Amino acid sequence: MSYVLGLDLGTSGLKGILVNKEGKIVDEASSEYPLLTPKRGHSEQDATEWFRAAKEVMQAIFKSTPDATSKLEGISFSGQMHSLVLLDENDDVLRNAILWNDVRTTEQCVTITEKVPNLIDITKNKALEGFTLPKLLWVKENEPAIWSKVKTFLLPKDYLGYRLTGNKQMEYSDAAGTLLLDVESRSWSKEVAESVDVPLSICPPLVQSQDKIGMLDKALGEELGLDVDVPVFSGGADNPSAAVGAGIVRPDQGMASIGTSGVFLSYEETGDKDYKGNLHYFNHVVPNAFYTMGVTLAAGSSLNWFKKTFAPNESFEELLKGVKDIAPGSEGLLFAPYISGERTPYTDSHIRGTFLGMDIAHTRDHFARAVLEGITFSLKDSLELMRKHSNKEFSQIVSVGGGAKNPDWLQMQADIFNTPVVTLETEQGPAMGSAMIAAVGAGWFDNFEDCSKVFVHYKSEVTPNEEAVKTYEAVYANYKEVYPTIKDLSHKLISDSE
Ligand code: XUL
Repeated sequence: MSYVLGLDLGTSGLKGILVNKEGKIVDEASSEYPLLTPKRGHSEQDATEWFRAAKEVMQAIFKSTPDATSKLEGISFSGQMHSLVLLDENDDVLRNAILWNDVRTTEQCVTITEKVPNLIDITKNKALEGFTLPKLLWVKENEPAIWSKVKTFLLPKDYLGYRLTGNKQMEYSDAAGTLLLDVESRSWSKEVAESVDVPLSICPPLVQSQDKIGMLDKALGEELGLDVDVPVFSGGADNPSAAVGAGIVRPDQGMASIGTSGVFLSYEETGDKDYKGNLHYFNHVVPNAFYTMGVTLAAGSSLNWFKKTFAPNESFEELLKGVKDIAPGSEGLLFAPYISGERTPYTDSHIRGTFLGMDIAHTRDHFARAVLEGITFSLKDSLELMRKHSNKEFSQIVSVGGGAKNPDWLQMQADIFNTPVVTLETEQGPAMGSAMIAAVGAGWFDNFEDCSKVFVHYKSEVTPNEEAVKTYEAVYANYKEVYPTIKDLSHKLISDSE
């Protein structure tokens, strides 16, 4: 039996899965690393820890599945996006990586927006604190001694690829999240780099997700006890890798993912749609394809907050068992999940959440249902932007994460999205995508669509209920009024309390 190994480099740890040609997960292991927060708003990680964790994961897998040491046919990666790794002329890391969730770069985002008036035309995205270019400018302005030594910048999974093969490159789906890529033409943007005075020479060569970037370093292979030479494929950013792992390989499919934050993602065949920067619009891991993505900052975390605050000693099952007895629309109770600000569609870090329409007859079950509905409405905002700007029609939405675990919430998603919803038989997140990239790279399949037919399996479909769809259309219209109605007061409440 042959295997491929997918390594997902996340924010809290690295997870590896060993997968066979039938797409079955034969083994898995993980290793954690610390998140460093030296100052408020700063979020960093030691990049060498990612390599340590990768080695640990591979050692564990090869120990428990010794067969893999002679039958491994490829390794690939998925990784946290945007996080900045700086290398000097000897390819040593110059400072801790500055992560995607670090928010120190508001000033640099303003500078980029001013200096690059056609930023959205070129990069398809607005300058946001999480992206990489603002981080490069921050280092340039605040740490000149380090900046003067920068020879190359990489992103997390590309750094890992470098440590495994000795070759430096950056893959399109990740390069798109730097704000230095001309997304449509898939080349580094001289115009953006020159406008903000960042030398293009620090940008590594660009590669495609399933491109072979080299063979696993010989000494490392020996240390890991491998009996074969193993090709290493470039891999992809975590969000598009998760999409591939969920079988999103066609434009009529969407993915609704509810983790701490929520993501609504859709496959795009072309890079020429005009989303005006209201959605993230990046290159996909699928060759020549793109994807759009909207983010709800507090999706699962709204539900976690609700449980922690009002039902700390109950399980989620107990907390949510009554929601099925409440009618769609929670009898006039609306929840807006802006408890940590909102990204899509408002990009407003000063907005805060609200319950609206509380009635003396409402029970805790009404509140629980309203929370689930509010999170789903926020994801629908992203779906609606996709429908509005590119006439997109979805024939199926794959629900992953917390939203896939509760049958009542799944029905709400089908009704609110007015689209059939499916869940995955085995959910592995981006790691499955990275294994699929290795499988396509190793030549097991001609393309991702063929690979997903073997690797991805759905459970039965949840179909929209006509009556609930109608009710939710009206409730969603009201939900859309909430943001403009509360915006000014919400901003005032925040500034008054600071
Ligand atoms: C996407 C983003 C996050 C990270 C998490 O824009 O910032 O989803 O990719 O790893």
